[in-house]
Amino acid sequence: MQKIPAHITLILAFVLSIGLNSYANGQVSIENLKCEMLHDPMGIGTTHPRLSWQIMSEVRGTNQQAYQIMVASTAVKLASDQADLWDSHKVNSDQSIMVTYAGKPLSSRTNCYWKVRVWTSKGASSWSKPAMWTEGLLNPADWKAQWVGYDKGFPWDSVSKFSRLSARYYRKQFDVKAGIKKATIYIVGLGHYELYVNGKSVGDQVLAEPPTDYTQSVKYSTFDVTNSIKQGENVVGTVLGNGRFFTMRPKYKPKKIKEFGFPKMLLQFEVEYTNGTKQIVKSDESWQFTADGPIRTNNEYDGEEYDATKELTGWNNIGFNDKAWQNAQLVQSPGGTIQAQMNEPIKVMDTIKPIALTQVKPGIWIMDMGQNMAGWIQMKVKGNRGDKVTLRYAETLQPNGELYVANLRDAKVTDAYTLKGDGQESWHPVFVYHGFRYVEISGYPGKPELADFEGQVVYDAIFTTGSFETSNELINQIYHNAYWGILSNYKGMPVDCPQRNERMPWLGDRAVGSLGESFVFANGNLYAKWLDDIAQSQKPDGAIPDVAPAYWNYYSDNMTWPGTYILVADMLYRQYADEAPIQKHYASMKKWMDYMRGKYMKENLITKDKYGDWCVPPESPELIHSKDPARNTDGQLIASAYYYHLLNLMQKFAVLIHKPADAKAFAEQQINTANAFNQKYLDKKNFKYDNNTVTANLLPLYFGITPPESRQEIFKNIADKIQNEAKGHISTGVIGTQWLMRGLTEYGRPDLAFRIASNSDYPGWGYMVKHGATTIWELWNGDTAAPAMNSHNHIMLLGDLIAWFYQDLAGIKTTSPGFKEIVMNPPVIQDLKFVKASYKTPYGEVNSNWTNNGNDFKWHITIPPNSKALVYMPAIASSEITEGGKQVASVNDIKLVKMEHGKAVFRIGSGSYDFEVKN
Ligand code: BGC
Repeated sequence: MQKIPAHITLILAFVLSIGLNSYANGQVSIENLKCEMLHDPMGIGTTHPRLSWQIMSEVRGTNQQAYQIMVASTAVKLASDQADLWDSHKVNSDQSIMVTYAGKPLSSRTNCYWKVRVWTSKGASSWSKPAMWTEGLLNPADWKAQWVGYDKGFPWDSVSKFSRLSARYYRKQFDVKAGIKKATIYIVGLGHYELYVNGKSVGDQVLAEPPTDYTQSVKYSTFDVTNSIKQGENVVGTVLGNGRFFTMRPKYKPKKIKEFGFPKMLLQFEVEYTNGTKQIVKSDESWQFTADGPIRTNNEYDGEEYDATKELTGWNNIGFNDKAWQNAQLVQSPGGTIQAQMNEPIKVMDTIKPIALTQVKPGIWIMDMGQNMAGWIQMKVKGNRGDKVTLRYAETLQPNGELYVANLRDAKVTDAYTLKGDGQESWHPVFVYHGFRYVEISGYPGKPELADFEGQVVYDAIFTTGSFETSNELINQIYHNAYWGILSNYKGMPVDCPQRNERMPWLGDRAVGSLGESFVFANGNLYAKWLDDIAQSQKPDGAIPDVAPAYWNYYSDNMTWPGTYILVADMLYRQYADEAPIQKHYASMKKWMDYMRGKYMKENLITKDKYGDWCVPPESPELIHSKDPARNTDGQLIASAYYYHLLNLMQKFAVLIHKPADAKAFAEQQINTANAFNQKYLDKKNFKYDNNTVTANLLPLYFGITPPESRQEIFKNIADKIQNEAKGHISTGVIGTQWLMRGLTEYGRPDLAFRIASNSDYPGWGYMVKHGATTIWELWNGDTAAPAMNSHNHIMLLGDLIAWFYQDLAGIKTTSPGFKEIVMNPPVIQDLKFVKASYKTPYGEVNSNWTNNGNDFKWHITIPPNSKALVYMPAIASSEITEGGKQVASVNDIKLVKMEHGKAVFRIGSGSYDFEVKN
């Protein structure tokens, strides 16, 4: 065989490479198709969903130039390019996220199969793999089912302050004919439900459905159960638990605690046949139910008791004798509109093995999970019928090794399992969760072994978006603690803590925290759902509560807690390019701003506050709140500064949604408030605000209230105070800490921010770590403060720490919605030798790994396709910098923009880069 001459091989290779670059089948592909930020969602509630995809390409500077989307009503049609619902045709656009469906009007139950292809600066892709979504029940009239429930307790229940209500078991047997095409279940199960078809559980969600104010809205879920049913007899079964519907503390403080009633359910089971007919099985009086089953009580605060001797073997399958059961009863609807669940369900997301088991008293064992977590214990046990194992949970231990439960207040946190006695039994609760590191085990037959237990970590099924590691071990542990704190407190809504008799969705805790959290978890849908909860809790006069859903009735009227409504909408827009919350909530936000102004504004300042700079480090170790006026910041100052900042965001929103008159009015009010603020609080001679706390100075400075000519001096004052008075420690509470790290960095003292973050003595996050914390505490002095308000798994004190880790230390900061454009400008901090971080933006993953050994700064960066970055590389001159070993000036796809403050600023497109500079 003749060999191809070498020069021809070369020419061929060259021609091929050009070909690849310009037509490029194979080097540009598409992945991660999402509809409303969800993978293949079932039963969505919008007919104009937004579609997103990610472009994969290793070639630098890959930018989308056009796309084509096809949507078809069947997979077969889509495969043969019959886009009977929508063919966008080739659209010249660089938009690859949140593209709104603009095809044929969609109706309830429509199946939508879709695919997309793109043309980029580096060639075209082929069609993506198909993805899908289905429309849910869009009209109230689609619901044929009736609400069933039972509006009282049973003789073994107790509806008292510490309620004990058993779970309710429902079943329905029905016939299915031949020719099944599709079977779908739509369910609202309040407060929590488990769902079974023919004995098998449907889906892997737990603690379903997401908590809401049920008088305003209830969420339904959609399940495809085509493969679970068969011709002939079938059974659908549900178990209803209390969740937040039947509240944990009924008849306790009626003014404070909202009650909704007894568990209830709406279920519609639709079977479509190949001949075009349809059968609907619906919840109604024909169902059977009992509450005399194994789950004897379930209460999120107090725990779950399961008696396996009362198991109803086979109850959720055919052939079960339900003669002793009652007919289901029709009940009132809970009142809220029925909406599709558009946020991810809660699941068991992780498991951990306990690390130690110690007998503290005869028969009483303490198990250490090695990590403060939220979820439950999966237990294996063997014993006699009637043996009862009790598990109690706590975050810490007493000096004698027993559980410390004083900080759980009156939450009983006790699960109990009664054995049926037939060999190995395995159990975990299903309608409650606990926040704990330690578990007390009593009544265990025989000697418990570590292998008999597993911690199941329960939170919303959202993916981890970021990773973050530095040369500083303490900072890494703080990050670890934050990670565990954040996931522990996602439960279909962000809650304050997972362990004591509270677990409430407090707004203030998330004002800025939600931004940091978004770098760690894909929390876009969760927070969008929460904004709906907040909107639904708004009073007709405009008031927004401090807790939403307003399970606790706290309408205290302040700027800092309710203001989270506006801050979170801004976060969703910046991090996810999700503009919908701004569109949807603008009117309610404005109404609230008007309400606060109308009721509390005096001479352009807001006179009402409630929480101050919540939880500043107090003057003595046992105190929860400082009594020292020098540590606390004036409430009116805080309220007015926040008002100013929120006006800023409202102005931005008004511009975005084309309301120029509003934007102008917000801007005018801002000027007035700034003037009044400076007049009242600014001591121009001594460059300090009011009583000169860090918070009092930082808020006006960071928000832009401080006149430009005073800014440097005010900042100097802040820095001096931190260095001299606080000796490089934190002195702020929940409010000041929201802006501290970024504020110090922006004004040129990242070293000081780093010092605060990396201290291991009191007060600071490092102090928590050094004192055994594996999550973040509610109080800086969580190890010594009184138990009344002292959770060890609260994340409000994180402030802007996590945002600072990612945006500043790693330098991954968006300057246009959803990270279409990124600015990477990590500060050079002497004591920080490397940062290795990644973050999954809507466009794909960004990597930023830099090392600084004093004379050599190396930086590996990856930017996802269809996005670009401005990169700030520390260097005296750009000629000192190399990329991939070559002089940067000789690299075509890197453009020098400018030199600024000892940094060379480059514009780069997508792809991987290795910068290096020797100093
Ligand atoms: C909660 C905090 C909350 C605060 C406001 C506390 O009990 O745990 O998270 O923000 O109250 O009052």
